[in-house]
Amino acid sequence: MKDMGAAITDWTSMMEKEGRDVLAKAEAKWELGDQLKEMGLYPYFQPIEENQGPVAIFRGKQVIMLGSNNYLGLTTHPKVREAAKRAIDQHGTSMTGSRFVNGTLPMHEELEAKLAAFFGKDDGLVFTTGYQANLGVLTALINKSSVTVVDKFSHASVHDGCKLANGENLTFRHNDTEDLERVLSKVSPNKGILILVDGVYSSEGDLAPLPEIVRIAKKYQARIAVDEAHGVGVMGPGGRGAVHHFGLQDQIDLIIGTFSKSLASVGGFVVGSKNVIDFIRHLGRPMIFSASLPPSSVAAAMAALEILIAEPERAEKVRANATFMKQELARIGYHVGNSSSAVIPLVIGDELKTFCIWKDLLDAGVYTNPFLYPAVAKGQGTLRTSYLATHEQSHLDQALAAFKTIAKNYDIQSAA
Ligand SMILES: Cc1ncc(COP(=O)(O)O)c(C=O)c1O
Repeated sequence: MKDMGAAITDWTSMMEKEGRDVLAKAEAKWELGDQLKEMGLYPYFQPIEENQGPVAIFRGKQVIMLGSNNYLGLTTHPKVREAAKRAIDQHGTSMTGSRFVNGTLPMHEELEAKLAAFFGKDDGLVFTTGYQANLGVLTALINKSSVTVVDKFSHASVHDGCKLANGENLTFRHNDTEDLERVLSKVSPNKGILILVDGVYSSEGDLAPLPEIVRIAKKYQARIAVDEAHGVGVMGPGGRGAVHHFGLQDQIDLIIGTFSKSLASVGGFVVGSKNVIDFIRHLGRPMIFSASLPPSSVAAAMAALEILIAEPERAEKVRANATFMKQELARIGYHVGNSSSAVIPLVIGDELKTFCIWKDLLDAGVYTNPFLYPAVAKGQGTLRTSYLATHEQSHLDQALAAFKTIAKNYDIQSAA
């Protein structure tokens, strides 16, 4: 069993093996995967039969859903469903072209204007996914004379966007502003700098120390973009995100986000000043080379945003649920990290143990997401849990009862 735990972290080394035949590594039998599947411990790509919000049906059984980003619970809201259906009736199922050519409806522009107003910026742009929003911003703004300075724990789409863009890529240690300053101090003075951080980190649930980042950025004339994928709908006044939580909307140049979490759809966006957004519109590669967001997705995101604006108490409910759970999980003895958002990581450590606990929680009716290297550091297997505005106290209590039993069975105790 112990050896298997170590082997799990070696998954990624399979991808690096290379001989003359490029497919040989992919064609090799993946014994570890087969073994995990036989034991019911393989957690990925598993279909969820019904995913209606706080409770789901998984492997034929009702489970409390603690593994979803549907923070406001809007994916099944009647107004959101209705808006998506109406858009299909009016406009069909696909734009069949990019925003650059035949892929823009008035509703795309309406959503862009609503997002800009919501975040207090001049203008906005919507993309087909949040992943593409980061690729679009970075491919437009970064050239040979630019440097990106990125928190190591930023989302993969930020790192991938930096790779795709043409500049120099530098990283700093997670949330370590001294390290950020050390990196900035080495950048040649004739290069443009864009600092990229996540407002809320997707695996850890902690916030970027934005006030300090803004202070340091000014010193080095660096610009700042914040990915608010997990901040929108949760943090700040009216669920406007971590940037607004710190009152820094005038100091942060670009706010990037997604519709695939609080906003109950798919798609991504960026908001910022008018000319910068227009520049990204014309030069961001996904705006030109990928089909635009379908009408149903635009309409669903717009309806969800309107509900968030009309019912800001939903964001407060997410935070109240998460605060309660963080306190209770820590009391049981779980290592919950520095989360201050809707995401609470339970750091288990050993990878096999993480899978076993994931499975036992499922058997007890609680769905979580196991995160292993490279999503988290090696040996830091984590169960990512997340909380919704639609979780009732009874859902949380049921989950806590399961967490208590598991803690006893696996000898999980607080260090205090
Ligand atoms: C921080 C962050 N940025 C961007 C994305 C990409 O968003 P999308 O799912 O819309 O592609 C995600 C999705 O997990 C995310 O967590």
